[in-house]
Amino acid sequence: MKAYAINLEVRDVYLTAEEENILQGEHGEGLKMMMEILVKIGEIYKADRLIPISSAQISGVSYNTIGEHGLHFLKSLQGLKVKVLTTLNPLAFDENHLEELKVEDELFEKQMEIIRAYMNMGIRPTATCTPYYFDNIPKLGEHIAWAESSAVIYANSIIGARTNREGAVSALAAALIGKTPNYGLHLDEERKATHLIELSFEPNEEDFPLLGLWVGKNIKGIPYLRLHGSEDDFKLMGAAMAASGSIAMYHVENFTPEYREAIGDKIERIVVDRKDIEDYRSEEDVELVAIGCPHASPSELRRIAEYLKGKKKRKDKELWVFVARSVKERNENYVRIIEDFGGKVMVDTCVVVSNAGKIFKKIGTTSGKAAFYLSKKKFGGAKVKVTDLYTLLRSVIE
Ligand code: F3S
Repeated sequence: MKAYAINLEVRDVYLTAEEENILQGEHGEGLKMMMEILVKIGEIYKADRLIPISSAQISGVSYNTIGEHGLHFLKSLQGLKVKVLTTLNPLAFDENHLEELKVEDELFEKQMEIIRAYMNMGIRPTATCTPYYFDNIPKLGEHIAWAESSAVIYANSIIGARTNREGAVSALAAALIGKTPNYGLHLDEERKATHLIELSFEPNEEDFPLLGLWVGKNIKGIPYLRLHGSEDDFKLMGAAMAASGSIAMYHVENFTPEYREAIGDKIERIVVDRKDIEDYRSEEDVELVAIGCPHASPSELRRIAEYLKGKKKRKDKELWVFVARSVKERNENYVRIIEDFGGKVMVDTCVVVSNAGKIFKKIGTTSGKAAFYLSKKKFGGAKVKVTDLYTLLRSVIE
């Protein structure tokens, strides 16, 4: 492949002849615009070139979040096809729960238009923020372009794949071109830890999302943590970090794949006390218990089902569990137990991007990320209690 520099005095991003042709519009206006976006980002972040990606994850799917402008933009790209495996974030509803989610006809129609527009581009309508369980599983060291901050931090930290924190548009541009600018977390040296975080206490399950909220709010960079937990604990911690701040990667000693090379010469040490994370705790009573932000893992689904088996739900409380369709389909036995209990297992949507935050005023969840968003006016302004799974489940049992 021939590579050369274009207008070096203006731009340092090297483009191949093929990439330059796309940029000059020889493959149509749509691809030209996508290439312009990638090159502009590359210029800003001083990328040396574009690199091939193996997959993309697209956010900006719910009509509740992208609205009419987003739909119009997607329509303008019709005719283009993605070059790599591309999966999609949750949308505004689960088609089988339209009534509970108070989905009006207009929202339904607009949302379906969005999904059709994405599908026409060859994007798989997976509608989950946890594509890494079954739908889109990157490997260690693979370059990808993912939007959805919880999936980005999971892919970088727990899988060891490489992605910057893409936005809806830049991830779509990368999917349609099949490449992304080579900067940031694609580079070895940018994946080193900047802060060493130690806890002065042994964390319980409920502490992980609260710790994530604190770290996201107080630290800019890549934290290296010394603590023990499960993959689900770290998933919840990472999602909260990414929501309350700009963190896109962390290391956990003896757990994440790159922790051995993570500590460089310059690192700031921080000790977190239990009182630091107390601000995020709340003792609210709840109307809805919402599990699955990020979408529940197979093991979370199993734990919920095992705990609720043979029990009955209180009539004054709701239990909604959000999972990827692919996780639900593979765990029908657990789903049946939760539904027999009186809970609802929803796919394609989540507690934040559906109308749930506008329907319930007091919500309990294991998710720091859900708490971060649901308490904002735009998402309903609910009072949110974050605690561990079994405490929440106990509160809905008769
Ligand atoms: Fe996923 Fe919705 Fe939470 S997209 S991370 S379940 S806000």
